[in-house]
Amino acid sequence: MIDRFNIKERFIHWMVAICFIYAALSGLAMWSRHLFWIATVLGGGETVRALHPWGGIIFALALGFMFRNWASQMKLDSDDKVWLKMSHRYAMNDEAGVPPSGKYNAGQKMLFWMQSAFTLLLFLSGMILWFPEIMPRTLRLGAVLVHPLAAIGSIGGIILHIYMSAFAVPGSLRAMTRGFVTPGWAKAHHRKWFQQTTKIEDERAR
Ligand code: HEM
Repeated sequence: MIDRFNIKERFIHWMVAICFIYAALSGLAMWSRHLFWIATVLGGGETVRALHPWGGIIFALALGFMFRNWASQMKLDSDDKVWLKMSHRYAMNDEAGVPPSGKYNAGQKMLFWMQSAFTLLLFLSGMILWFPEIMPRTLRLGAVLVHPLAAIGSIGGIILHIYMSAFAVPGSLRAMTRGFVTPGWAKAHHRKWFQQTTKIEDERAR
Protein backbone atom coordinates (compact mmCIF):
# COMPACT_ATOMS: atom_id res chain seq x y z
CA MET A 1 0.00 0.00 0.00
CA ILE A 2 1.16 3.56 -0.70
CA ASP A 3 0.32 6.50 1.59
CA ARG A 4 -1.59 9.22 -0.25
CA PHE A 5 -3.27 11.56 2.26
CA ASN A 6 -2.35 12.00 5.92
CA ILE A 7 -4.98 12.37 8.65
CA LYS A 8 -4.78 16.19 8.64
CA GLU A 9 -5.37 16.37 4.87
CA ARG A 10 -8.32 13.98 5.14
CA PHE A 11 -9.86 15.83 8.08
CA ILE A 12 -9.65 19.18 6.25
CA HIS A 13 -11.01 17.65 3.02
CA TRP A 14 -14.08 16.21 4.77
CA MET A 15 -14.68 19.47 6.68
CA VAL A 16 -14.62 21.26 3.31
CA ALA A 17 -16.93 18.65 1.78
CA ILE A 18 -19.54 18.65 4.61
CA CYS A 19 -19.66 22.46 4.87
CA PHE A 20 -19.81 22.80 1.08
CA ILE A 21 -22.75 20.40 0.82
CA TYR A 22 -24.61 22.21 3.64
CA ALA A 23 -23.92 25.67 2.17
CA ALA A 24 -24.89 24.50 -1.33
CA LEU A 25 -28.16 22.80 -0.24
CA SER A 26 -29.23 25.64 2.07
CA GLY A 27 -28.33 28.19 -0.64
CA LEU A 28 -30.35 26.31 -3.28
CA ALA A 29 -33.31 26.19 -0.85
CA MET A 30 -33.31 29.99 -0.59
CA TRP A 31 -32.60 30.56 -4.27
CA SER A 32 -35.74 29.11 -5.82
CA ARG A 33 -39.19 28.45 -4.40
CA HIS A 34 -39.18 25.16 -6.34
CA LEU A 35 -36.27 24.06 -4.15
CA PHE A 36 -37.69 25.34 -0.86
CA TRP A 37 -38.55 21.76 0.14
CA ILE A 38 -34.81 21.36 0.90
CA ALA A 39 -35.22 23.96 3.67
CA THR A 40 -37.98 21.84 5.23
CA VAL A 41 -35.59 18.88 5.32
CA LEU A 42 -32.85 21.07 6.86
CA GLY A 43 -34.99 22.39 9.72
CA GLY A 44 -37.12 25.15 8.17
CA GLY A 45 -36.68 28.46 6.33
CA GLU A 46 -35.52 30.50 9.33
CA THR A 47 -32.92 27.95 10.41
CA VAL A 48 -31.55 27.72 6.89
CA ARG A 49 -31.42 31.54 6.55
CA ALA A 50 -29.55 31.85 9.85
CA LEU A 51 -27.09 28.97 9.32
CA HIS A 52 -26.28 29.32 5.60
CA PRO A 53 -23.76 32.18 6.08
CA TRP A 54 -22.04 30.31 8.93
CA GLY A 55 -21.83 27.12 6.82
CA GLY A 56 -20.29 29.27 4.08
CA ILE A 57 -17.77 30.87 6.44
CA ILE A 58 -16.61 27.54 7.92
CA PHE A 59 -16.41 26.14 4.37
CA ALA A 60 -14.28 29.10 3.19
CA LEU A 61 -12.01 28.81 6.26
CA ALA A 62 -11.52 25.05 5.77
CA LEU A 63 -10.82 25.62 2.07
CA GLY A 64 -8.25 28.24 3.11
CA PHE A 65 -6.41 25.52 5.10
CA MET A 66 -6.70 23.15 2.11
CA PHE A 67 -5.27 25.89 -0.11
CA ARG A 68 -2.32 26.45 2.25
CA ASN A 69 -1.52 22.71 2.31
CA TRP A 70 -1.94 21.90 -1.38
CA ALA A 71 -1.34 25.05 -3.49
CA SER A 72 2.39 24.31 -3.93
CA GLN A 73 1.58 20.81 -5.30
CA MET A 74 -1.03 22.10 -7.76
CA LYS A 75 1.21 24.12 -10.11
CA LEU A 76 0.81 23.02 -13.74
CA ASP A 77 4.03 21.65 -15.33
CA SER A 78 4.77 21.13 -19.05
CA ASP A 79 3.30 17.58 -19.02
CA ASP A 80 0.10 18.94 -17.45
CA LYS A 81 -0.33 21.41 -20.32
CA VAL A 82 -0.12 18.55 -22.84
CA TRP A 83 -2.52 16.54 -20.61
CA LEU A 84 -5.08 19.35 -20.79
CA LYS A 85 -4.83 19.48 -24.59
CA MET A 86 -5.44 15.72 -24.69
CA SER A 87 -8.05 15.61 -21.92
CA HIS A 88 -10.73 14.49 -24.40
CA ARG A 89 -8.73 11.25 -24.77
CA TYR A 90 -8.59 10.83 -20.98
CA ALA A 91 -12.36 11.35 -20.85
CA MET A 92 -12.86 8.67 -23.54
CA ASN A 93 -10.65 6.22 -21.59
CA ASP A 94 -8.12 6.15 -24.44
CA GLU A 95 -4.94 7.36 -22.77
CA ALA A 96 -2.55 6.77 -25.71
CA GLY A 97 -0.31 9.85 -25.92
CA VAL A 98 -1.65 11.35 -22.67
CA PRO A 99 1.41 12.16 -20.49
CA PRO A 100 1.67 10.36 -17.12
CA SER A 101 0.55 12.38 -14.08
CA GLY A 102 2.27 13.30 -10.84
CA LYS A 103 0.39 13.14 -7.53
CA TYR A 104 -2.51 15.03 -9.16
CA ASN A 105 -3.46 15.06 -12.82
CA ALA A 106 -4.01 18.37 -14.62
CA GLY A 107 -7.82 18.00 -14.33
CA GLN A 108 -7.55 17.69 -10.54
CA LYS A 109 -5.23 20.72 -10.44
CA MET A 110 -7.68 22.78 -12.50
CA LEU A 111 -10.50 21.75 -10.15
CA PHE A 112 -8.42 22.94 -7.19
CA TRP A 113 -7.76 26.39 -8.74
CA MET A 114 -11.36 26.75 -9.96
CA GLN A 115 -12.82 25.87 -6.56
CA SER A 116 -10.40 28.24 -4.83
CA ALA A 117 -11.39 31.11 -7.14
CA PHE A 118 -15.13 30.35 -6.83
CA THR A 119 -14.81 30.15 -3.03
CA LEU A 120 -13.16 33.57 -2.86
CA LEU A 121 -15.98 35.02 -4.99
CA LEU A 122 -18.63 33.25 -2.90
CA PHE A 123 -17.08 34.50 0.34
CA LEU A 124 -16.74 38.14 -0.77
CA SER A 125 -20.17 38.36 -2.41
CA GLY A 126 -21.69 36.46 0.54
CA MET A 127 -20.35 39.01 3.05
CA ILE A 128 -21.88 41.81 0.94
CA LEU A 129 -25.26 40.02 0.85
CA TRP A 130 -25.09 39.35 4.60
CA PHE A 131 -24.68 43.03 5.51
CA PRO A 132 -26.47 44.84 2.64
CA GLU A 133 -27.38 47.89 4.76
CA ILE A 134 -23.73 48.98 5.06
CA MET A 135 -22.75 48.19 1.43
CA PRO A 136 -22.84 50.58 -1.54
CA ARG A 137 -25.56 49.88 -4.15
CA THR A 138 -23.09 48.84 -6.92
CA LEU A 139 -21.47 46.23 -4.67
CA ARG A 140 -24.92 44.88 -3.73
CA LEU A 141 -25.95 44.58 -7.38
CA GLY A 142 -22.65 42.87 -8.27
CA ALA A 143 -23.00 40.45 -5.36
CA VAL A 144 -26.56 39.49 -6.35
CA LEU A 145 -25.16 38.40 -9.73
CA VAL A 146 -21.80 36.93 -8.68
CA HIS A 147 -23.01 34.83 -5.70
CA PRO A 148 -25.39 32.50 -7.61
CA LEU A 149 -23.09 32.30 -10.67
CA ALA A 150 -20.09 31.28 -8.54
CA ALA A 151 -22.33 28.82 -6.67
CA ILE A 152 -23.55 27.20 -9.91
CA GLY A 153 -19.94 26.96 -11.20
CA SER A 154 -18.64 25.35 -8.02
CA ILE A 155 -21.61 22.98 -7.62
CA GLY A 156 -21.05 21.84 -11.25
CA GLY A 157 -17.33 21.30 -10.56
CA ILE A 158 -18.03 19.33 -7.38
CA ILE A 159 -20.63 17.09 -9.05
CA LEU A 160 -17.93 16.19 -11.61
CA HIS A 161 -15.37 15.74 -8.79
CA ILE A 162 -17.67 13.41 -6.83
CA TYR A 163 -18.44 11.41 -9.97
CA MET A 164 -14.73 11.04 -10.86
CA SER A 165 -13.45 10.27 -7.37
CA ALA A 166 -16.28 8.11 -6.03
CA PHE A 167 -17.48 6.27 -9.16
CA ALA A 168 -15.34 6.66 -12.31
CA VAL A 169 -11.95 5.86 -10.77
CA PRO A 170 -12.35 2.86 -8.42
CA GLY A 171 -9.93 2.93 -5.47
CA SER A 172 -9.85 6.76 -5.18
CA LEU A 173 -12.34 7.00 -2.33
CA ARG A 174 -10.14 4.80 -0.13
CA ALA A 175 -7.35 7.38 -0.55
CA MET A 176 -9.57 9.97 1.15
CA THR A 177 -11.17 7.64 3.73
CA ARG A 178 -8.26 5.45 4.84
CA GLY A 179 -5.34 7.44 3.43
CA PHE A 180 -3.70 4.88 1.15
CA VAL A 181 -3.93 3.40 -2.36
CA THR A 182 -2.70 0.20 -3.98
CA PRO A 183 0.49 0.27 -6.09
CA GLY A 184 -1.67 -0.80 -9.09
CA TRP A 185 -3.94 2.25 -8.65
CA ALA A 186 -0.96 4.59 -8.30
CA LYS A 187 0.75 3.14 -11.40
CA ALA A 188 -2.41 3.28 -13.50
CA HIS A 189 -3.52 6.83 -12.61
CA HIS A 190 -0.48 8.74 -11.33
CA ARG A 191 2.54 7.00 -12.88
CA LYS A 192 5.09 9.80 -12.27
CA TRP A 193 4.03 9.99 -8.61
CA PHE A 194 4.21 6.18 -8.33
CA GLN A 195 7.76 6.17 -9.72
CA GLN A 196 8.87 8.97 -7.38
CA THR A 197 7.36 7.41 -4.23
CA THR A 198 8.59 3.88 -4.93
CA LYS A 199 12.10 5.26 -5.65
CA ILE A 200 12.10 7.02 -2.27
CA GLU A 201 10.88 3.80 -0.57
CA ASP A 202 13.63 1.76 -2.34
CA GLU A 203 16.29 4.24 -1.25
CA ARG A 204 15.01 4.10 2.35
CA ALA A 205 15.04 0.27 2.29
CA ARG A 206 18.68 0.20 1.09
C1 HEM B 1 -19.01 14.19 -0.94
C2 HEM B 1 -18.19 14.99 -1.54
C3 HEM B 1 -16.77 14.66 -1.94
C4 HEM B 1 -16.19 13.44 -2.20
C5 HEM B 1 -16.85 12.06 -2.21
C6 HEM B 1 -14.80 13.68 -2.50
C7 HEM B 1 -13.85 12.70 -2.78
C8 HEM B 1 -12.50 12.94 -2.99
C9 HEM B 1 -11.50 11.92 -3.19
C10 HEM B 1 -11.76 10.43 -3.20
C11 HEM B 1 -10.30 12.53 -3.40
C12 HEM B 1 -8.96 11.85 -3.66
C13 HEM B 1 -8.68 11.74 -5.15
C14 HEM B 1 -7.30 11.21 -5.42
O1 HEM B 1 -6.70 10.58 -4.56
O2 HEM B 1 -6.80 11.42 -6.54
C15 HEM B 1 -10.54 13.95 -3.32
C16 HEM B 1 -9.58 14.91 -3.49
C17 HEM B 1 -9.84 16.26 -3.53
N1 HEM B 1 -11.04 16.88 -3.21
FE1 HEM B 1 -12.78 15.97 -2.81
N2 HEM B 1 -14.57 15.02 -2.45
C18 HEM B 1 -15.74 15.65 -2.10
C19 HEM B 1 -15.96 17.01 -1.93
C20 HEM B 1 -15.01 17.99 -2.19
C21 HEM B 1 -15.25 19.41 -2.13
C22 HEM B 1 -16.59 20.04 -1.73
C23 HEM B 1 -14.09 20.02 -2.50
C24 HEM B 1 -13.78 21.48 -2.64
C25 HEM B 1 -14.64 22.47 -2.68
C26 HEM B 1 -13.11 18.99 -2.78
C27 HEM B 1 -11.84 19.22 -3.19
C28 HEM B 1 -10.89 18.24 -3.40
C29 HEM B 1 -9.55 18.51 -3.88
C30 HEM B 1 -8.97 19.90 -4.24
C31 HEM B 1 -8.90 17.27 -3.96
C32 HEM B 1 -7.46 16.99 -4.43
C33 HEM B 1 -7.40 16.95 -5.94
C34 HEM B 1 -8.41 16.03 -6.53
O3 HEM B 1 -8.40 14.83 -6.26
O4 HEM B 1 -9.27 16.55 -7.26
N3 HEM B 1 -13.71 17.77 -2.57
N4 HEM B 1 -11.89 14.16 -3.07
